[in-house]
Amino acid sequence: MAIGVFDSGVGGLSVHRALVQRMPNADFVYLADQANAPYGGREGEEIVDLTRRGCETLFDQGCDLVVLACNTASGIALRRLQQTWLPGYRKQIGRPVNILGIIVPTIEAATGVPWEHEAERRGEKVEKLDILAVFCTPATARSRVYEIEIDKRRQDVAVFAEPCPTLALMIETDAGAVELATAIEGHVAAISSRIGRAPDRAILGCTHYEIVADIFRAALKPGTPLIHQPGATADALEAYLAKHPEYRAGEGGARRFLTTGKPGAQSTLVETFWGAPLSFERA
Ligand code: DGL
Repeated sequence: MAIGVFDSGVGGLSVHRALVQRMPNADFVYLADQANAPYGGREGEEIVDLTRRGCETLFDQGCDLVVLACNTASGIALRRLQQTWLPGYRKQIGRPVNILGIIVPTIEAATGVPWEHEAERRGEKVEKLDILAVFCTPATARSRVYEIEIDKRRQDVAVFAEPCPTLALMIETDAGAVELATAIEGHVAAISSRIGRAPDRAILGCTHYEIVADIFRAALKPGTPLIHQPGATADALEAYLAKHPEYRAGEGGARRFLTTGKPGAQSTLVETFWGAPLSFERA
């Protein structure tokens, strides 16, 4: 069996890279739904439908476990698919397939509170407010998932989400460093002015943004800690596999990269991030 990793495009490679580094012997199949990227400006139902189709493709490729390496899909589609689609689909194909998201591990990393311990700290006196900025797609911002779930776990953390409508597509289409820096500086300035000061910490809440994390670091106040979503996801996947021996990650170290878009080489920006040439097959 292999682990499937899904994103609308190349952003999920930032999570994939951390998974591969953590589990070098595991077999992975990465799927980029580039024919339909970006997801961030789409309606909820479309995101649910596209995510379901992406998971089905990966299950058809022999994966039993799929990691949604996409905040938009995790925030909008994951719960719906787990509740309304997976139970029937498992019966239909006769395998115990499952889907994991990246928002739960990110929130656990940002709050230091295990997911199941929600509301544990309610009623505590807040001495100092920790301002956490979340840079994300418009769909993730609209879902308010980070605000809602962090508020259930930490009263001393105030979350401000900044939707960045053009950034994923710019990264997908290999925008230049100056153009990217201008857009990112604009978003950092906008959120800081909304908050009234610079944020204390930040989440790059769209996996595409990790590819340009250095530009975010340069635009934010020096030393602003970034919650590392890929690392948090690798921790969560390892813990999940240890608890669920029925899902095996394989041991051949195989890597396949599939796209619903144009097969072949990927952008310079992405290959530089990945550290090697990347060639995608048609899904
Ligand atoms: N990389 C994705 C995310 O984490 C989706 C970006 C998009 O397709 O708009 O949200």
